[in-house]
Amino acid sequence: MKKLTILPQLLLAFTFALTGFAAQAQEVKGNAAAGSSKSWLCVGCHSIPEYRADYPLVYKVPMLGGQNAAYIASSLAAYKKGERKHPTMRAIAGSLSEQDMADLGEYYAAQTASSPNNPLK
Ligand code: HEC
Repeated sequence: MKKLTILPQLLLAFTFALTGFAAQAQEVKGNAAAGSSKSWLCVGCHSIPEYRADYPLVYKVPMLGGQNAAYIASSLAAYKKGERKHPTMRAIAGSLSEQDMADLGEYYAAQTASSPNNPLK
């Protein structure tokens, strides 16, 4: 009978695993206006054309405006998790919540060459 006593625990563990998965699958909705006010952290590097950071390790700073919102948010998550290694971006992304990342993604995705300059610039 020993085998049966573990069954409820297994079911419980399985239920927790499922609810955890469901919670993760819930998407955080980004808001471009909220992202605009959070971009003060980013404009120092990302809005200077041809800017290169981290002398003498010279990195070209990628252009964010017009990139896909989900791509931006997932890149930020990858820096936070350490899957992407750039040290400054890791430090910055580490301070962002999932909501911040989604907001910043929406904000940058909406930028075009004719967008007005962000007043934070
Ligand atoms: C100190 C300069 C600096 C600041 C400040 C900074 N970044 Fe970056 N960012 C970089 C550099 C350099 C890279 C390229 C790193 C690499 O090669 O992985 C980068 C890469 C990225 C990428 C990946 C782009 C791609 O095309 O793959 C995203 C997204 C990003 N930054 C978003 C942000 C956001 C949002 C902020 C503000 C919260 C921010 N960055 C602040 C320098 C900076």
